[in-house]
Amino acid sequence: MAWTRVRDEALRERALQVIPGGMYGHMSTARLPADYPQFFHRARGCRIWDVDDNEYVDFMCAFGPNLLGYQDPAVQAAIAAQQALGDTMNGPSEVMVELAERFVAQVSHAQWAMFCKNGTDATTMAMVIARAHTRRRVILVAHDAYHGADPWCVPLSRTAGTVPEDRAHVAYYAYNDPQSLEDLMRRHKGDVAAVFATPYRHDVFSDQQALNADYAHAARRLCDETGAVLIVDDIRAGFRLARDCSWSLLGIAPDLSCWGKCFANGQPISAVLGSEPLREAARTIFVTGSFWFSAVPMAAGVETLRQIAQTDYLERLEAAGRSLREGLAERARAHGFALRQTGPAQMPQILFDDDPDFRVGYAWTAECLKNGAFFHPYHNMFLSAAHGPQDIALALDAADRAFETVRRVRGTLGPVPQLAPVIEYLARK
Ligand SMILES: Cc1ncc(COP(=O)(O)O)c(C=O)c1O
Repeated sequence: MAWTRVRDEALRERALQVIPGGMYGHMSTARLPADYPQFFHRARGCRIWDVDDNEYVDFMCAFGPNLLGYQDPAVQAAIAAQQALGDTMNGPSEVMVELAERFVAQVSHAQWAMFCKNGTDATTMAMVIARAHTRRRVILVAHDAYHGADPWCVPLSRTAGTVPEDRAHVAYYAYNDPQSLEDLMRRHKGDVAAVFATPYRHDVFSDQQALNADYAHAARRLCDETGAVLIVDDIRAGFRLARDCSWSLLGIAPDLSCWGKCFANGQPISAVLGSEPLREAARTIFVTGSFWFSAVPMAAGVETLRQIAQTDYLERLEAAGRSLREGLAERARAHGFALRQTGPAQMPQILFDDDPDFRVGYAWTAECLKNGAFFHPYHNMFLSAAHGPQDIALALDAADRAFETVRRVRGTLGPVPQLAPVIEYLARK
């Protein structure tokens, strides 16, 4: 069936009337190539269908939540069973305790768990626990690291509606740079409540950077020396690098870790996990939400954590990522392109050499889309355990056709207008 976007266009027009800007947040297509669909109809395994029924092999996994495959049968069965009993009630169901037990058994630094809805709830809760524990104010965060969309952490390029006081006690260091972290610690001596760190550097519009062991060990040491709380934000990469907290790969235990997106395979739930010394502070803070105790996402979490512990899901998604990476490199070379494929293969970032304003990448991802592969031009992507060899082969065929088209039109490509503010921000940095 020919690729179309008639229904998507109509929905966008209706949305413009009743949703500010037509869409908002990370799922707005405003900065994507013009052909990207805004609205989707269904999803199964590693495939998604947009509202025009165009089918794609999906490499965004809903920006992370799809870990085992959309509508994984065992997770769906757990959802249905809990749904039949009750979801949002006067209090949590017993699955909350089971989920906390499973998490504590799974993640080596954790002795307790608290649940919320979105990743931003979890990072904000971790910040509050750290301040309650230390009775200090300052939170150290890496430049350009994303920790959510509350006023204290919304990206510095998107601060409309916030005031400087929202981040009066947030200070910035250079990710992976132990000296920068140490200098900042010294500057705020006696007042540092927490150091936030991501599993590796996964900023948008840039090559991804592996975690530097010197920096990670320095972060642990500096927190130990000063009494500050080390927080690993595993919301994006959690359970895609390891079956434990991501920094466990270096043998480093944070005091708190933040989880979201994938541990209930798409159901809305996030978590803060903590070590024993933080338990008392976590007990004293007041955090809550009408839907934080709903049982259905927790039941989905129990089943997802069971599969994380008992299946080869991780090896499968790593293998799929590797074959995608190798296949893309080969096809790009054959068409005269040099790709920069960075980050773990199961969370790939794909940028083009000699493409400073991303115009080639935009053209290529737009062509891939029309050929049935859903890639992202500037955000890291995600593999799921449902990506099989056949899906990767289809995606590589789509990519191959896209390379061929872009090779022919490369000389005629102009700047991408919707990227102008980003290019300006990157140039100012
Ligand atoms: C590292 C990291 N932290 C926090 C968040 C915020 O999560 P949410 O969008 O669920 O609030 C995200 C979301 O992408 C993230 O990648």
